[in-house]
Amino acid sequence: MLADDQDIIMPSNFAWGAATSAYQIEGGWDADGRGPSIWDTFCHKKGKVFQDQSGDVACDSYHLWEEDLKCIQQLGLTHYRLSLSWSRLLPDGTTRRINQKGVSYYNRVINDLLANGVSPMVTLHHFDLPQALQAQGGWQSPQIADLFDSYAQFCFQTFGDRVKLWLTINEPYIYAKFGHEDGCHAPGLDQPGVSLYLAGHNMLRAHARAWHSYDALYRPTQGGQVSLALFSDWAEAHDPSSALDVAAAERYMAFVLGWFAWPIFVNGDYPPEMKARVEAASRAQGLPSSRLPTFSKEEPRILGTADFFALNYYTSRRVWPGSGPAKIGFEGDLEVERDVDPAWPVCGNSWLAVFPEGLRKLLKYIKDKFGNPTVYITENGFSQVGPVEIEDARRCRFFRDTLLQVSKAIHEEGADVRGYFAWSLLDNFEWADGYRVRFGLYHVDFAHPRLKRTPYRSGREYAQLIAQNKTSA
Ligand code: NOJ
Repeated sequence: MLADDQDIIMPSNFAWGAATSAYQIEGGWDADGRGPSIWDTFCHKKGKVFQDQSGDVACDSYHLWEEDLKCIQQLGLTHYRLSLSWSRLLPDGTTRRINQKGVSYYNRVINDLLANGVSPMVTLHHFDLPQALQAQGGWQSPQIADLFDSYAQFCFQTFGDRVKLWLTINEPYIYAKFGHEDGCHAPGLDQPGVSLYLAGHNMLRAHARAWHSYDALYRPTQGGQVSLALFSDWAEAHDPSSALDVAAAERYMAFVLGWFAWPIFVNGDYPPEMKARVEAASRAQGLPSSRLPTFSKEEPRILGTADFFALNYYTSRRVWPGSGPAKIGFEGDLEVERDVDPAWPVCGNSWLAVFPEGLRKLLKYIKDKFGNPTVYITENGFSQVGPVEIEDARRCRFFRDTLLQVSKAIHEEGADVRGYFAWSLLDNFEWADGYRVRFGLYHVDFAHPRLKRTPYRSGREYAQLIAQNKTSA
């Protein structure tokens, strides 16, 4: 046990969790009446994903749920974050047709969790839109907000007697940017500066509708809480003594986190600097109005539609103002350059520089900017690429360093953090990186007929930390 273990002190009833998402683990892509999602379509096209891999089988959790449950039990988790596959429940995305086998699967998962004293945190939508809805315009269509609301209400009705923590949409920033501008995620659109803002806007509208439905129709009897999981890097000025670098860091935070957090937690609208910059860039392109949509007065209120702040944090960036010819699109609107401090070790993925202090700073930023909300860290993790290291000492260090920073954020900065979910329970399908990038607390042998799960050392140590914290709380 390392010396700093005793300094990781979490409040009583702290949620000790691990997270997964449906497409990344379930497999069974066409089993028992599941409809296709945009990730099935994307992966089945050549050249989109590392070695043309797909989530067709993944960890086969659809058939091997009891193996996942064993991992959850061994870890001693108090909470498990999973997502529902919309098209497994509603094959064409609408409540016109319900797939009872999909309902049974999730009933079983939820009931088994509860029988083992584990609370489910359920994400309604983690990147995998039903393909049938993409064919009707997907997140760019204004109708999607109503369709999402119907789906959300179906889930609240079906599972809400047992599920008390809901997340509507996972990482709208990544979903909008990677899927609707960079083209590296499904649905693979790459129209700069237009479709991502429209998709993001409709995600906010859809989220708010589902929150209002819950608040009015389900909360009175079910008593749960609803939020959405927001991705954010922590950005700091490359040169803290430069006012321009400081402003660039603020701007980065406004575009990446503020895009979704500001409307919900601050004033029902996008951050002023984001609005001004997208408008100015749009005019400079000769467009009659801003590429960033506006919220109509007839819409249900966006402000206040989160019962807690759900944060996915992985990495940090040093930023400074951009230079050179203006690019069209999100990057051009934001106009910052970024790198990582050479002192931050890079793990597995090239994008993931390890800076646990960044999480503490980000938690303080969230406390200060967004009115000291209750926070759950709904994802955080460290990946491996290359030869598998079951004795993954670097990741053990990472979890301890990170949890120490969370503990400091609580005790020294006064952040109201109520839980931490490691990404991920299992090695799984890491989107465009396929199975090359491993984030699991459990190793999955993808060549084994039953996709054998084996704990990494970091999984065993995470279990120890949880056990220790449960006894000291
Ligand atoms: C966040 C996403 O929600 C998750 O699906 C992904 O696997 C992790 N980041 C790691 O990239």
